[in-house]
Amino acid sequence: MMIATSAPGTATALHTMLEEVIAGLSQDQKTLPSKYFYDERGSKLFDDICELDEYYVTRTESSLMQERVADIATVIGPNVLLVEYGSGSSLKTRLLLRNLDRPAGYVPIDISGEYLSQVGDSLQAEFPQIEVMPVVADFTKSFEIPSPNDAETRRVIYFPGSTIGNFQRNDAKALLARMAEMAGEGGGVLVGVDLDKNRDVLRAAYNDSKGITAQFNLNVLRRINNELGGSFILDKFRHNAIFNDYHSCIEMHLVSTERQTVNICGYTFEFDENESVLTEYSHKYKVEAFRRMANEVSLNVKNVWTDADNMFAVIYLERDLSTRALFTSRFAK
Ligand code: AVI
Repeated sequence: MMIATSAPGTATALHTMLEEVIAGLSQDQKTLPSKYFYDERGSKLFDDICELDEYYVTRTESSLMQERVADIATVIGPNVLLVEYGSGSSLKTRLLLRNLDRPAGYVPIDISGEYLSQVGDSLQAEFPQIEVMPVVADFTKSFEIPSPNDAETRRVIYFPGSTIGNFQRNDAKALLARMAEMAGEGGGVLVGVDLDKNRDVLRAAYNDSKGITAQFNLNVLRRINNELGGSFILDKFRHNAIFNDYHSCIEMHLVSTERQTVNICGYTFEFDENESVLTEYSHKYKVEAFRRMANEVSLNVKNVWTDADNMFAVIYLERDLSTRALFTSRFAK
């Protein structure tokens, strides 16, 4: 059974999208939310990115998981309810489910109901002994986690792929706090984190030679045209990904190639030549900086697994019970 807490594609979802697009394009530094990359076409383009030579992120995390999953499963322990922030379509999820000791259930959370239901069905068929309970929700907001039929020892939130890097630091911290709250007493958070590294490697990963990342970036404009009746001419914007040293993040931009005007649902936006729209952050962490951020929301680093080249880390965090009172008063409002 699938639980739906919101319905993407509905009038409400379109209204929210319009509000967010208008708000973003009305700022001095125009922005668009990166979550709007991901319609069916955008998700397919992202899958293509994951196969690119330059995009080391996915293959590094996958091989790290392959090498260390037995150890990770031991640290996580038996009978957990695994709650994944994301659809669960990845090889990493299957690896974990195969290696965990008698998990009490598996809850994939995703905003796209159709995709989630397909993935949920195929995972249920592949793991008939595990109760799969998909929930359609925006994991940055409140939602209920269903209880499995089997007793769970604890909840473990799984957030792979370094998607945490796509949140600005304060938002990433708030999301970690929310995960800690969702995990509950004695619970844990297993998170994939892309690490700070050589700038040329980073710039190449987000400016690939085949131009797939460019198409992925431009897909947000295509969506605005298709879903909100926008008048963007995609050829008049070019993709650019730069590294922001101060914030230690990749910034993806769409740069207007000429002075132009764009209409969206009766709103008009002027673009100067070379003016950019900031579409995505991808933060690259040092393990120590991530540890400090987690500590600030009463999560303690229990284990860190990294690859031999220190490109990527899988980090297991546990709720700090000694500071539970403090945590409750500061974040559980
Ligand atoms: C989903 N996320 C972790 C990707 C990243 O690397 O920040 C999204 C992406 N953007 C461009 N390429 C991949």
